[in-house]
Amino acid sequence: MCGITGYIGAEDTGRIVHDGLKNLEYRGYDSAGIALAGDDLTIEKTEGEVDDLTAPHAAAATVGIGHTRWSTHGEPTETNAHPHTDCTGEVAVVHNGIIDNYDALKSELQPRHIFESATDTEVIPHLIEDRLADGASLVAAVQRTTAQLEGSFAIAVTAAGHDGIVVAREDSPLLLGHGDETTFIGSDATAFIEHTNRVTYLESGDIAHLTTDSVTIYNDGERVTRETETLEWDAEAAGKSGYDHYMLKEIHEQPRALRQAISGRIDDLGTEVELDVGLPEEYLHSLEEIQIIACGTSYHAGLYAKELLETHADIRVTVHIASEYEFTGDRDPWRTLVLAITQSGETADTLSALREANRAGARSLALTNTLGSTVTREVDDTIFIRAGPEIGVAATKTFVSQVATATLLTVHLGMIRGSLTGQTVDALLNSIQDLPGAVQQILDQESTIKRAAQQYADSDAFFYIGRQAGYPVAIESALKLKEIAYDHAEGFPAGELKHGPLALVTPDTPVIALLTAGTNAEKTQHNITEVASRGAPTIGLTGSPDVDPDLDLTFEIPECGLMEPVAANVALQLFAYHVANEKERPIDKPRNLAKSVTVE
Ligand code: F6R
Repeated sequence: MCGITGYIGAEDTGRIVHDGLKNLEYRGYDSAGIALAGDDLTIEKTEGEVDDLTAPHAAAATVGIGHTRWSTHGEPTETNAHPHTDCTGEVAVVHNGIIDNYDALKSELQPRHIFESATDTEVIPHLIEDRLADGASLVAAVQRTTAQLEGSFAIAVTAAGHDGIVVAREDSPLLLGHGDETTFIGSDATAFIEHTNRVTYLESGDIAHLTTDSVTIYNDGERVTRETETLEWDAEAAGKSGYDHYMLKEIHEQPRALRQAISGRIDDLGTEVELDVGLPEEYLHSLEEIQIIACGTSYHAGLYAKELLETHADIRVTVHIASEYEFTGDRDPWRTLVLAITQSGETADTLSALREANRAGARSLALTNTLGSTVTREVDDTIFIRAGPEIGVAATKTFVSQVATATLLTVHLGMIRGSLTGQTVDALLNSIQDLPGAVQQILDQESTIKRAAQQYADSDAFFYIGRQAGYPVAIESALKLKEIAYDHAEGFPAGELKHGPLALVTPDTPVIALLTAGTNAEKTQHNITEVASRGAPTIGLTGSPDVDPDLDLTFEIPECGLMEPVAANVALQLFAYHVANEKERPIDKPRNLAKSVTVE
């Protein structure tokens, strides 16, 4: 976790690095710091958010690195904030990731070096100090230091009196941005997208030396070249565009995100999917099982995908919380496709599960939003969900885009495997094409949903119930409320309520029910009667005109077939947003969370 940025150029270095940190703050926001280097090193650090950090100014500095932190080792204090320095105070290091062997390295260094922080990172500047004292150049010192590190890291290093910035990457993400006579560093492109969209993704093991007029990349001691790519994102797409929060902006972007996800992937007649899956057709035909690995919201998208794939593509699907995944049993790795769903493409738990599957010989496919992310480099093939940048920590548009893209994959596989009739293909493709319009109609009901959120904001807890595709949406909607409103919220398969959770239901616990197409709504209506008779307020999401008399409130879901639960999810994103807003929570930066979880 954490965000790294850096800049080399002639403009106000401190301000540019500070702006970069502001853009990256969603990756971590419990402390921050900046180092500027010229003949001297100038460092500013703070406990708290980037806004609490004064942008340092050093007239002669053309080099700056910065860090916004989500603590793993050591409390979020100013001392533990990055950049960390060596004993001479001349080397500054920012780091994202975890150094597994820092304890052993620290013990070796401690007799000669004084440590100030409780972080794993601090060993790095001290190791570099020793190499510089041996006469190494900065780039050689970083090379020798990283050879001693075990774990995952992306680091940026600068030192007084040394030319430029040296960066290194092992598993954790890092890329370079190329402007006119300027170079930027970022954990992701949002760090510098307002300055340039020309980027180079570094690969694991890369060490790059950036100076005012050159970028030199090494891997394994050899000079290497890496491609420069042009991103389609621009600064406006990454900004708030007048909304109070990124999350609200991203909720409202969903019709467009969905159109992008579908664009060019359904033929003109609307009868076939043209999804660019590189895996050979005969392989996809002979598949026995898909194992989905994912975390959090992406895991919920995986559960939705299972509903679709098992029903329509005639394939067994298991969905695994990535941190619990093991490739076990008597599966044939060649007939098992591992599908990693991860919007960031950098989630350590998902990558670790993927690596286990790769070692076992399984083929792998990624569903991700992030071009050039680590997952795309470690799978056999990738399908992009094309949601555009998502900054709010709570995932919204990436969830709906993941499900929409998984629906296209379902049709693609179903057609290859001969399990889909023309009628079902039409029904699925119509529902997916109707989804952006349906989502827009839900967004148009925002004031009704906001009133409901205000009415129930002070409830003791919130329960979400659903069946079939309604269940992943129920648990996803509960997660949104937990994350941003800090309320107790749980999602249950509707039929399970009576087997225990019903004991929690009181007149102060609203029960929110998914009653759309694809959710076996007739049965869930019985569960509404059960909770209504215990005095619980009830909210139903339904498109049906025969509204259940036991519902206190209804959010109307426009008709869009099997995608109706996804549309309902959008209404519940708005509900969670307005409950959180009513409570004045820091919606884009919920406590203890960060956007991209790059530690296990
Ligand atoms: C919740 C949320 C997280 C992520 C999870 C996986 O709103 O955003 O639960 O879904 O950390 O992240 P990715 O999809 O980047 O692998």
